[in-house]
Amino acid sequence: MNSRQYQLLIIERVIKMKKLLIVLALTTAVIAIYLPDTVSSNAPGSNQVTFTKDVAPIFRNKCEECHRSGGVAPMSFATYEEARPWSKSIREKVVSREMPPFHAAGPLGQYQHDPRLTDDEVATIAKWIEGGSQKGNLKDMPAPKTWKNEWPFRQPDLAVKVKSPYKLKAGKTDQYVFFVFDYVFPEETWVKSIVTRPGNLKVVHHANTHVVPPMVKVPDSGYIEGDFEPSARGTVMVAGWAPGVSPVLLTEGVAVKIPKGMKLGIQIHYAPSETDQIDETQVGVYFAEGMVNKNLRVLFGDRKDLSIPPNDPAYSLTSTKTFDTDAIIDFYHIHMHLRGKSYLIRLTYPDGRQETAIEVPRYDFNWQRTYLLTQPLRVPKGTKVDFIGTYDNSSKNKFNPDPSQSIKWGEKTTDEMMQGRIFYESVDEKLNLKVKKGVVVRETDTAVKTN
Ligand code: HEC
Repeated sequence: MNSRQYQLLIIERVIKMKKLLIVLALTTAVIAIYLPDTVSSNAPGSNQVTFTKDVAPIFRNKCEECHRSGGVAPMSFATYEEARPWSKSIREKVVSREMPPFHAAGPLGQYQHDPRLTDDEVATIAKWIEGGSQKGNLKDMPAPKTWKNEWPFRQPDLAVKVKSPYKLKAGKTDQYVFFVFDYVFPEETWVKSIVTRPGNLKVVHHANTHVVPPMVKVPDSGYIEGDFEPSARGTVMVAGWAPGVSPVLLTEGVAVKIPKGMKLGIQIHYAPSETDQIDETQVGVYFAEGMVNKNLRVLFGDRKDLSIPPNDPAYSLTSTKTFDTDAIIDFYHIHMHLRGKSYLIRLTYPDGRQETAIEVPRYDFNWQRTYLLTQPLRVPKGTKVDFIGTYDNSSKNKFNPDPSQSIKWGEKTTDEMMQGRIFYESVDEKLNLKVKKGVVVRETDTAVKTN
């Protein structure tokens, strides 16, 4: 085994073990093993790793989206002066792979917008810090990046806002608010994308957009504060925003159907803030135009019959479903609460072969995200899917508010949920619908009247 393989093995073990002490001990080993390799690959005389030449480009690409002034992270790494004081912590977090945050296992490149560092990038950062966090020559500094809060793609066809900007009170705890927008879809509408655009990045931690059926009652204010799981009331989550997550634009011919009479709602997780804040998060909708042939489908791996005993470090539940059509898997979504430990979606093909669809070895409630495949995965009809959620109700789980409780399904973050979703297309579906601004048009070229 060469030193590189050995070092990879250690990183893998670090990820598996989770125990801080072991992580720290191995961290030193990883760096020790790294050094000879990296030094020898550098030209003589140029092996001094500096911020401006070597580290700043990595931070620009992989950290600055969050670590900048106005970003979601509490500290900026955009300049040497800002980053340097965090050196020790940066080394720890990148070597342990806690930063950048990403929770699915599997090779780099399997998912879109995967922020993980390469082994070389980790080595460069570690070596910079080992060498005394040198600044280097200012002329090596990469050009600054400008960060704008604007719509992706183009101006959306429909943009909705909450009734009035939400006033978030200063406080030490996370807050959850479910907003429902006034807009009612007047017709059945096919959409290509629903984009959530956070207003105030200082406090919007993540936001999930839902299609809300008329039966969900909302107060006049337009929002419900506190622990409230909209999906438990019949809404369907259709999009999400979390830092670093780019919105989904469905491929040509694929769309999602929003029934007539539906509204849109958004559940926002606000991070604690030392000062009062205002947020006005918006949702933009992009209508399908031209031909729609496939309705994006969802395979649900949810269970509500959770019963987690007190102090159980690894309670596990499986939900099994089968694809009733040849399918193309586009993305996954996973949702649990504070006791969520890990999640696995496993495929068993009709010929008996098994494959991991997605594995989240260290689930973290703070980092909700959707995992979009770079290469959509085609699976045959009859493929069996096991959705396996594992929970840690012991005191080893640092997020666990009370290991002595037995835990059931519920809407509060201190209750539990088990949601796994596969978003897919049916290979054989051919709807052959002509749509204009998302609404089906007939031969006569007039919109279908449904009211
Ligand atoms: C998607 C957003 C995001 C990205 C990308 C990201 N971070 Fe972070 N980082 C955060 C947030 C939010 C926190 C604070 C809360 C936490 O620790 O989870 C944080 C915390 C940290 C801390 C802990 C600071 C302390 O309190 O000691 C370090 C170090 C860090 N990040 C380094 C990095 C580095 C280095 C990169 C890039 C290689 C990076 N992060 C990329 C969001 C991000």
